[in-house]
Amino acid sequence: MYVCICKAITDKQIRRAAAGGVDNLYELREALGVAAGCGSCASMAQAILDDCNKGYSQPSVYTPSRA
Ligand code: FES
Repeated sequence: MYVCICKAITDKQIRRAAAGGVDNLYELREALGVAAGCGSCASMAQAILDDCNKGYSQPSVYTPSRA
């Protein structure tokens, strides 16, 4: 689906960029031009990046509580 209408960028292109190492909106703008026009696509593009980067986040550390 198209995410950025101004630049005709799809979610697949954003996911491909994320797989190639793009991990923030600034880099995505530099790479594809997303959010370089009206900017209304920025939140959706960020959500897609966040979704792509979920697998690379640090695992949470289990801390047992004291009873
Ligand atoms: S829809 Fe992406 S810059 Fe306008």
